[in-house]
Amino acid sequence: MTKMMLFVCLLIAGTILVLSACTRESENISPEPNTGTEYIAVDADFQNFRNWTVVTQLSQALSADGRAHTDAARTIWIKQADAKRGPNGQYPNGTILVKEVQGGYGIVAMVKRGGDYNSAHNGWEWFRLDSAGKITTRNSASICNNCHAQVKNLDYAFTKN
Ligand code: HEC
Repeated sequence: MTKMMLFVCLLIAGTILVLSACTRESENISPEPNTGTEYIAVDADFQNFRNWTVVTQLSQALSADGRAHTDAARTIWIKQADAKRGPNGQYPNGTILVKEVQGGYGIVAMVKRGGDYNSAHNGWEWFRLDSAGKITTRNSASICNNCHAQVKNLDYAFTKN
């Protein structure tokens, strides 16, 4: 191989490297749903949720516009104390938040399931739990999606920042 040919080969290889690095970078910042393993929660995932990290305790509606429609006392916990939104603005798959409301409304939870699940709403799965923390219902209910979409920029979590 002549020196000239070697030089041309190196130039082509270098260009490919630079281009692929650029592609990787733009992938990181695009608001894609979380890929990777879908996280499908089971009863055991909610065990002892009252011992998790408290995100906040409230006794008034969250804002003057009456978001959440309740002044009942309520507590919100997160399972992963150090959970942070990633470059796509979303919490990692497997992130779990639980809210317990006093006075009959009961216990609700949201789990970042990811994969293709509820991808129009950042892959969250919505739950109701009984007082022992066992799953009673699970779905991608539009009622939960739509109200929580008010804080889409916070990945649907009102109180966790
Ligand atoms: C009318 C609006 C509204 C609807 C409908 C709603 N939520 Fe919420 N949710 C809120 C608000 C506001 C908060 C913030 C805490 C508070 O004020 O109680 C919240 C908090 C939560 C939290 C704690 C994490 C966070 O976002 O701060 C969970 C878990 C939760 N909701 C689950 C559900 C589930 C499951 C459903 C559907 C069955 C649902 N929510 C329906 C408004 C709503």
